[in-house]
Amino acid sequence: MSAFIEQLPKVELHLHIEGTLEPEMVFALARRNGITLDYADESALRAAYDFRDLQSFLDLYYLGMQVLRTEQDYFDMTWAYLERVHRERVRHTEIFFDPQAHTDRGIPLAVVVGGIHRALEQAQRQWGLSSRLIMSFLRHLSEEAAFDTLRQAEPFRHLLAGIGLDSSERGNPPAKFSRVYALAREQGYRLVAHAGEEGPASYISDALDLLRVERIDHGVAATQDPALMRRLARERIPLTVCPLSNLRLRVVQDMADHPMLTLLAEGLCVTVNSDDPAYFGGYMNANYQALQDGLGASDGELLQMALNSVEACWLSPEEKAALV
Ligand code: ADE
Ligand code: ZN
Repeated sequence: MSAFIEQLPKVELHLHIEGTLEPEMVFALARRNGITLDYADESALRAAYDFRDLQSFLDLYYLGMQVLRTEQDYFDMTWAYLERVHRERVRHTEIFFDPQAHTDRGIPLAVVVGGIHRALEQAQRQWGLSSRLIMSFLRHLSEEAAFDTLRQAEPFRHLLAGIGLDSSERGNPPAKFSRVYALAREQGYRLVAHAGEEGPASYISDALDLLRVERIDHGVAATQDPALMRRLARERIPLTVCPLSNLRLRVVQDMADHPMLTLLAEGLCVTVNSDDPAYFGGYMNANYQALQDGLGASDGELLQMALNSVEACWLSPEEKAALV
């Protein structure tokens, strides 16, 4: 691991907390909750992390998180992630969770948000590691289900900084959620959405124009549309790019083909993130390292990406100044 990357203060902006469940924790929580898994052991589960595309990953991701039942489970998952990235010099993190993947199994939202939030508060107290929580709608579910989730979140409004949109992208365009995003906007939520991961570049412009998001999660399909790239650069719309995720989900066939440096050279506000690190083989440092080793990114280019993350995060100007 490069000493430059290790010592660089980092900000993470695209992290699904359920994607931090390492096989060891999946089995530990299964034992604690009396759940029998379809895999013999941790290594059998890890061996199944060989994905063809986004959907083949999502199938396993929704399966793995079924071991989460109690407030303590959500705390332990979140705390394990925070301990890990604290060691990697992450100073601020903006975390997604998928409420519907839990409430649809009968877990109350209070249990989910309570456990995650307790860990986030402890990291702030103990290490000064700051955070924001983003509630994501599952785009393969209906608009009505998203409205229902937004309503259920009302008692926790003060703990939720923003709204996101994730899960199966193709066939679930931004337009499906324009009305629920409009309501979330009225309620004061900040807005982001996954777009242009597996889906087309038009989903990126639709997320901006129909959902009125301020950041795009992934967005690598922007390279298919030069006019869109110019717009993203001009409007300084941040892209939360996840290099190892793109490789493991075969969005790119080789790290040498990754568009990160093209996007940076075109003047876009690209940032480095880990997405679902337990499934994609690396946390923040590994993602920076992959850009250096596989794509030839220089220390200067990595530094620019890290500064972009500070620019793109939701801290106040004073808090941002204190990060660097
Ligand atoms: N949920 C968790 N990780 C995701 C990803 N990379 N794309 C879409 N939905 C997700
Ligand atoms: Zn994601």
